[in-house]
Amino acid sequence: MVARVSTVAFQGIEGVPVDVQVMVAPGKVGMQIVGLPDKAVAESRERVQAALHASGLSLPAKKVTVNLAPADLPKEGSHFDLPIALGLMAALGAIPADALGGYVVIGELNLDGTIAAVAGALPAAIGANALGKGLICPADSGAEAAWAGSNIDILAPRSLIALSNHFRGTQVLSRPEPAIRSNAANMPDLADIKGQESAKRALEVAAAGNHNLLMVGPPGSGKSMLAARLPSILPPLLPSELLEVSMIHSIAGQLAGGKLSDRRPFRTPHHSATMAAMIGGGLRARPGEASLAHHGVLFLDEFPEFTPQVLDALRQPLETAECIIARANHRVTYPAAIQLVAAMNPCRCGMAGEPGHSCARGPRCVTDYQGRISGPLMDRIDIRIDVPAVTASDLIRPMQAETSAVVATRVARAREIQRDRFIAFGTPGISSNARCTTAMIETMAEPDAGGLQLLRDAAEKLKFSARGYHRVLKVARTLADLDGTLTVGRIHLAEAISYRVAGARLTAAA
Ligand SMILES: Nc1ncnc2c1ncn2[C@@H]1O[C@H](COP(=O)(O)OP(=O)(O)OP(=O)(O)O)[C@@H](O)[C@H]1O
Ligand SMILES: [Mg+2]
Repeated sequence: MVARVSTVAFQGIEGVPVDVQVMVAPGKVGMQIVGLPDKAVAESRERVQAALHASGLSLPAKKVTVNLAPADLPKEGSHFDLPIALGLMAALGAIPADALGGYVVIGELNLDGTIAAVAGALPAAIGANALGKGLICPADSGAEAAWAGSNIDILAPRSLIALSNHFRGTQVLSRPEPAIRSNAANMPDLADIKGQESAKRALEVAAAGNHNLLMVGPPGSGKSMLAARLPSILPPLLPSELLEVSMIHSIAGQLAGGKLSDRRPFRTPHHSATMAAMIGGGLRARPGEASLAHHGVLFLDEFPEFTPQVLDALRQPLETAECIIARANHRVTYPAAIQLVAAMNPCRCGMAGEPGHSCARGPRCVTDYQGRISGPLMDRIDIRIDVPAVTASDLIRPMQAETSAVVATRVARAREIQRDRFIAFGTPGISSNARCTTAMIETMAEPDAGGLQLLRDAAEKLKFSARGYHRVLKVARTLADLDGTLTVGRIHLAEAISYRVAGARLTAAA
């Protein structure tokens, strides 16, 4: 007899249905797993045998064949343990054969028969729901899976014994409750930053329109500090975004305790990050930092210290909002709608452009250092600002600074205006100015006569690329939204153009 259990293989954030077929038949005693298993899946043979033994079920002296269909789809990960074990139990009659028909099963087994948490419970639950099935997953992944919907049947047993008792009706498993991470109000606050008013304004504009931002300044001027305060002014994730973000984090095994949060991701990879760490890849084509920052911020501190190839690999995700990992036998796509925020010193010694300072290595100090960032990547950055050293008077007797809460309200209002506009335009999928298409921005951000003249002059003189031109329009639209005005005026364009023209230190380098 062949017992069948449904499970999934993950391709990106999608769960592809996999059929686990288990046959116990006379023949050479042993257990074999076929169907392109990777090392972790092949090793599940040992775990399954031990776990079944620990649960009081010994294997018969027969040949056990496990087939993972479709046979040409690579199977990776340890979550195949539980479906294989349940298939075997069904084939041996330890659980009713029809009990498993309505479920997709994922889980890793420990040798003592308990079930260990696995990555990807949320996408598996969503996939199961789409198939009209329930989900059997480890107890520790239950809270995460429960987010897939209140109508989906979820069993989250601690051990094989608990599950077989449930099927026999001697011990009923209750449905796990979705858990939320408390958004503790201990985020660093903008009010901690003394002075730097124009940098704070740029941070607010970037947050309001989801624009990419680059901060250039000498050491200790507060660039890293400013970036760390960006999450405190960003609006919370929309419900649809929350699910997408959580699916990626679930696949990466980064949902702490299976709890979801509506806080936007803020990823700060170290500058030693490799291509696989940034874009995704490695064993099992895991999502990289760019995808983990989906609908949030990717903060690259010490920008030029990153490997140029790694930085340039971000060019494509910045345009298409997804990372594609191509492998010899398959292709994996992860969403990556990121807001890139970067900080750097103007040169290797860090002081170029400071009054009275001249670099020991002359102008090459600046050009060599900044040359590590390619022109096309720079072209994708809408707002570039200069963050000069804080003045002594700002440090000693600072003005009362605005708190993050005040700025966050303005940002939220500007985002609401944008969302309403996109809904009225018939593109509710877009939620910020930075994400809208060129055709849309041309109609949505049509400048008045004065603005148009300014834009024409600036585009000619500063030789904007087509992308640059559209990005200036997008930033100007955000500035008008922050003001709450319908038309994009000369004043908005002037500010947007000033952000496009690199900070004084960068211009000095050109
Ligand atoms: N505007 C400011 N207001 C208050 N404290 C500041 C300010 N700027 C810098 N500091 C102080 O200086 C420290 C260093 O700031 P930060 O790490 O943000 O500098 P940075 O610009 O990122 O420098 P680097 O280029 O070396 O990375 C902060 O921890 C803080 O104590
Ligand atoms: Mg820093």
